[in-house]
Amino acid sequence: MVGTGYVGLVGGAGLADLGHRVVCVDRIESKIETLSRGEIPFYEPGLSEVVERNVREGRLSFTTDIGQAVRESEVIFCAVGTPEGDGGAVDLSQVDAVAGEIGRYMDGYRLVVQKSTVPVGTARRIAAIIRDHQTEPHDFDVVSNPEFLREGSAVGDFMRPDRVVIGADSERAMATMRSIYRPLYLIKTPFVETTVESAELIKYASNAFLATKISFINEIAWMCERVGADVQSVAYAMGLDKRIGPKFLHAGAGYGGSCFPKDTKALVKTAEAAGADARIVAAAIEVNRLQKERMVDKVVRAAGGDVSGRTVGVLGLSFKPNTDDMRYAASRVLINGLVDLGATVRAFDPVAMENARAVLPDIEYANDAYAAATGAHVLVLMTEWNEFRRLDLERLRTLMAEPSVVDCRNVYDPEDFEPLGFRFDGVGRGKPNRE
Ligand SMILES: NC(=O)c1ccc[n+]([C@@H]2O[C@H](COP(=O)([O-])OP(=O)(O)OC[C@H]3O[C@@H](n4cnc5c(N)ncnc54)[C@H](O)[C@@H]3O)[C@@H](O)[C@H]2O)c1
Repeated sequence: MVGTGYVGLVGGAGLADLGHRVVCVDRIESKIETLSRGEIPFYEPGLSEVVERNVREGRLSFTTDIGQAVRESEVIFCAVGTPEGDGGAVDLSQVDAVAGEIGRYMDGYRLVVQKSTVPVGTARRIAAIIRDHQTEPHDFDVVSNPEFLREGSAVGDFMRPDRVVIGADSERAMATMRSIYRPLYLIKTPFVETTVESAELIKYASNAFLATKISFINEIAWMCERVGADVQSVAYAMGLDKRIGPKFLHAGAGYGGSCFPKDTKALVKTAEAAGADARIVAAAIEVNRLQKERMVDKVVRAAGGDVSGRTVGVLGLSFKPNTDDMRYAASRVLINGLVDLGATVRAFDPVAMENARAVLPDIEYANDAYAAATGAHVLVLMTEWNEFRRLDLERLRTLMAEPSVVDCRNVYDPEDFEPLGFRFDGVGRGKPNRE
C-alpha cells in the first residue's frame, strides 16, 4: 500500500484485518517512524486499534523503501494524494512518481491497483509510465478500485462499504481483486465489476452528486431566508420522499474537506477536455463558494454591521466532526474573511487545532468552547462536534461581551437561544412575515 494518508493507512490496516500481509509505504520518513512507534499520524476514530492488532499479529508493517515493498508484493495499491493542480485540474505528480517506482522495481507480474481518486484515463496513463520505467519487460495489470470511505468513520466504511467498485480489463486481475475482497463478498457487499473507465468515473460522479445535493439545499436555504421559510422543515419533508432521501440534505456552511472541492473541479475539467460540459456540477461549485462567503456576511450582521475591533469566537475548525482535516474547511474562509475585516478571532476545536495553526497562524486558540466565547461579541458554531450540541447557554451568555450566536450548522433552533436574550442566526431559518 503506497501512501499512508487517510485512505492508505485505513486501507492497509483494513486489508491486513481481512487476513492479508500488508506493507505500508510512505516517502515521509517521520510518518513511518511515527507509525513504527505504534502511533497514528492523524486523528481517525478506531484506527489505532486496527493498526495495533495487525502489527502485533505480524500482518502489517511500515517502510520508506518502496523498492523492497514492490519486490515483495504481488499486489500494489496506490493511495497517494491527488490534490488540486493548476486551474482545477488534478495534480497527478504523486501518482506518476509511484508508477515510475513500480516499473523500476518490479521483477515479475504485478497487479497495480489505483485507489487514489484519479481522472478517467489515468489507469492507462499509469500503465504507460510503468512500461517506460521497466528495466526489462514484465507483465502487469492496472485496475481501478476507487475508495468511498469517509473521514471520521473510515474504518467502519472500509470494512463494511456500501459497495466495492472494480474496473479491470483482464479476468486474471478481476479474479485477484475478488479474492482480496472475498471476506466482504461473504458479508454480501455489492460488487460492481466494470471497465477501468467506468470505475474511475463512478468515484467522481458519486462525489459530485453528493456535493450537488449539499449545494442544492444550501441554495434553498438562501431562498428560505428571503421568503420567510425554514429550511429545516423544507429539508425534512423533502427527505421523507424515498426518491430524494434525507442524507446530504443539511443546509450549512458549504462543503469542504479533501475530496468534494477538488473532485468536483476535476470532474468539470475532465468533462471540458472531453467536450462534455458539466454545467450542474459547475453550478454546485459556485453555489458552494458563495455559501462559504455568506457565513462571513452573517457574522458581520450578527455583530451589528461591523466586526472591526470586535472579537468573534469560533467553535469547530475541521471541515466536519471526527476528523482533524483542515483541507478546504469552511472555517478557513470564514476566519480569513473576518480577520481581513479587522476582527479578532478566538477559536477552539477538540482535535484540529494543531493542523489549524499551520493554516490559520494569526488567530487566538482557546482551550475549550467557553474560553473561546469569553469576551466575544459573536459566537459562531462552525463544526458540529458532539460536544457543541449541549452547550450551557446561560453560561455562554454570562461569558460573552454580547449575546449573539451564528449557528452555521443548524445544530440549534432559534427557540433554544432567543428566550435567553440571544440574537440568533442559523442557515435558512427564515421567519414568516405575518404582517
Ligand atoms: N481522505 C478521504 O476521505 C478520501 C476518501 C476517498 C478517496 N480519497 C482519495 O484517496 C487519495 C489519498 O487521499 P488521502 O486523503 O489519504 O491523502 P493524504 O494526502 O492524506 O495521504 C497521501 C500520502 O501519500 C504519501 N505519498 C505521496 N507520494 C508518495 C510516494 N511517491 N511514495 C510514497 N508515499 C507517497 C504522502 O506522503 C501521504 O502520506 C486521494 O486521491 C483522495 O482523493 C480520499
